[in-house]
Amino acid sequence: MPKNEEEVQEDQDDQDDQEDVETEFSEEDKKKNNEPKLTDLPGIGPGIAAKLDAAGIYDLMGLAVMGPSNLAELAGVGNAVARKAIQAARNMMNLGFTDGVEFDKKRKDIRYITTGSDSFNDLLGGKGVESRAITEAYGAFGSGKTQLGLTLAVNAQLPVEAGGANGKSVYIDTEGTFRPDRIRQISEAVGANPEKVLKNILVARAFNSDHQILLIDKVNELIKDGEPIKLVVIDSLTAHFRAEFAGRGQLADRQQRLNRYLHNLMKLAEQHNLAVYVTNQVMSNPAMMFGDPTTAIGGNIVGHASTYRIYLRRGKAGSRVAKLIDSPNLPDNEAQFFVTEAGVRDDG
Ligand code: GTP
Ligand code: MG
Repeated sequence: MPKNEEEVQEDQDDQDDQEDVETEFSEEDKKKNNEPKLTDLPGIGPGIAAKLDAAGIYDLMGLAVMGPSNLAELAGVGNAVARKAIQAARNMMNLGFTDGVEFDKKRKDIRYITTGSDSFNDLLGGKGVESRAITEAYGAFGSGKTQLGLTLAVNAQLPVEAGGANGKSVYIDTEGTFRPDRIRQISEAVGANPEKVLKNILVARAFNSDHQILLIDKVNELIKDGEPIKLVVIDSLTAHFRAEFAGRGQLADRQQRLNRYLHNLMKLAEQHNLAVYVTNQVMSNPAMMFGDPTTAIGGNIVGHASTYRIYLRRGKAGSRVAKLIDSPNLPDNEAQFFVTEAGVRDDG
């Protein structure tokens, strides 16, 4: 395929950069430059990288969190090429920065927070929502996303033997759906003192996406001040972003900000060994011809080996179904659970 002018020019630029790399860059620049770029991925040339950049995907994180069909469409490549590039980006992000001993140490101090349902926990590998990871639940309204968040905010406080992380919870509420009374009910059901549990949930109402982003710094400060925060709930992750960047031309902007925000959330989870649980709405996608026509807002955010993505829907006889999507290390199974007065449970 003949290259267009842009691509030729960019190839030229790349060569120029390579010649100068030894002498011209400061140490700081070198570090920056050594970070893998989109064009280091198989099948991603400068032309495609430019297209992706224009769509708000400017680094490996941005690409690693995409779904293959989404990338294929944006980049104008086949599905197989897209899948390969995503896999490579995920591999590059997960390797190279931690040696084996350090990695092993980190794995060992991972904490788990029970969902309240054994079958739901099994879906997530056995013990519930993990620290050093983002767990995303997406689904239609009323599918149980908020109820799971409230249940986790209580359970995080339980002792480790009881399925908790022995810490406080942060609840970033973007929709005004945090309900102290529900927290009380769920607390009573696990035999905890409702007022004490409420006191250990630090709630903030995020009024817009800027505020929502700012609150992450606030969480960092709280932890620095000694607050033993072990769970951060963001309900909803995407609502503000979706409302504020509604225009067609704003999609790239939104995606870029969302990606950066997720990046910061992942850093928070890693640095403080805490669990992050986020909720996400779905949009119906009538243009999609194959597969499930409901898609999560913001696309696939899975960008890390230990990040979990769950699709929630209503099941038979008042039950709910949780389906694990695209997990790098667990099968894409389903679990049945119920939302009860006691929160998330195995039985209704
Ligand atoms: P949106 O935020 O609107 O997108 O939905 P969501 O997925 O967050 O839904 P949510 O978690 O708020 O689920 C609401 C549903 O949970 C209700 O329709 C009820 O079926 C159920 N639910 C909430 N509170 C209770 C309760 O106290 N008892 C019982 N049995 N069910 C409850
Ligand atoms: Mg909700």
